[in-house]
Amino acid sequence: MNTGKEVHEGLEGIVVTATAIGHVDGEKGQLVVRGRDIEVLAETCTYEDACVLLWATPENARSLQTDLGIARRDAWERVTRLGDALALPDAMEALRAALAHVPSVNDARDSVALAASAAVYVAAWSRMQRGLEPVAPDASLTHAADFLRMVNGQVPGAALVRGLDSYWVTVADHGMNASTFTARVVASTGSDMVSSIVAAVGALKGPLHGGAPGPVLDMLDAIASPARAEAWIEEALARGERIMGMGHRIYRVRDPRAEVLERAVEALATAGVRTDRLDLARAVERAATGVLSQRHPTRALKANVEFYTAVLLDTLGLARSSFSAVFAIGRIVGWAAHVIEQRTKKRIIRPDSRYTGHLPG
Ligand code: COA
Repeated sequence: MNTGKEVHEGLEGIVVTATAIGHVDGEKGQLVVRGRDIEVLAETCTYEDACVLLWATPENARSLQTDLGIARRDAWERVTRLGDALALPDAMEALRAALAHVPSVNDARDSVALAASAAVYVAAWSRMQRGLEPVAPDASLTHAADFLRMVNGQVPGAALVRGLDSYWVTVADHGMNASTFTARVVASTGSDMVSSIVAAVGALKGPLHGGAPGPVLDMLDAIASPARAEAWIEEALARGERIMGMGHRIYRVRDPRAEVLERAVEALATAGVRTDRLDLARAVERAATGVLSQRHPTRALKANVEFYTAVLLDTLGLARSSFSAVFAIGRIVGWAAHVIEQRTKKRIIRPDSRYTGHLPG
């Protein structure tokens, strides 16, 4: 049975909407968010700046910092009622369950509440995993500083805060990726912001999307020394495995975010923070790039954002089990911007499919 409709598995190359939020040029390796290159934003902006920029809100970063601080306190009041959700052993499952409890008010309020709640819940989850009491938020701090404080129990130094801000700004938005598309599909039905973001968390959880940075660190640990990198990569490919942190649907050059995050790790090293895995990561990236280019001479498979996410978040002292959830805290900013933009389209996203079964009669 073939009804003659052309199928685009994976929707590769299909343009599903027009957006003023961001632009990804996979050939040039360029990521632009609201008219600015990601390299510039990552160096100068905070999480709060990213919210102002992406949500195009009339607020400034200072007032948004206040709003996020108040919203973190509100989220904290829900923590004790979220015992079962936050006790789930997988950080993304815990985040998905906990965010589902955020009350839906309106898009502007929900965006702030979700961004704030995600930070509070991921921090609480990571402490509970270590058998520690969660730490209450300090509304006077920036989002990045307070998150690190809620995880580690002490106010972080400026270099660590800068590192996390750079990371969150770098991953805030990235075109029509699977989780952003998911958020837009849910929003297109007229559903609320909280439902859209919870669905997007589910999409980000997959290892082909946001689930890669933890496994990248596992890989670095397994390789352990630069001399073993090439043989290890060859063996993994022979077992039919994919090399985590390598390859991308859109980029045909090195993901520009890998560059930005590698530089953020270097900045931490310069500030005196221990960056144990940087040299190893560079060696593994070189080996993986070489081996993959031999196997796929016509398909460029280079480091993606997840590769140096692993190294950066590890350097910031975060547990690998929390990496995808920390990614989600940053990406919520982009998801919310896309939900708000999707509202203006006033059209449900509803593609078609080709039936391959039998027809009656
Ligand atoms: N390791 C080994 N081989 C890879 C690979 C990787 N990381 N990424 C792609 N390939 C291979 C595929 O097996 C395929 O080979 P084939 O043509 O012999 O079947 C070829 O390259 C094309 O891959 P394809 O699956 O068409 O790419 P995609 O655009 O659908 O997938 C990713 C993009 C990101 C899902 C893919 O590169 C991947 O799985 N990467 C590892 C996971 C990861 O780092 N995810 C984070 C993304 S930001």
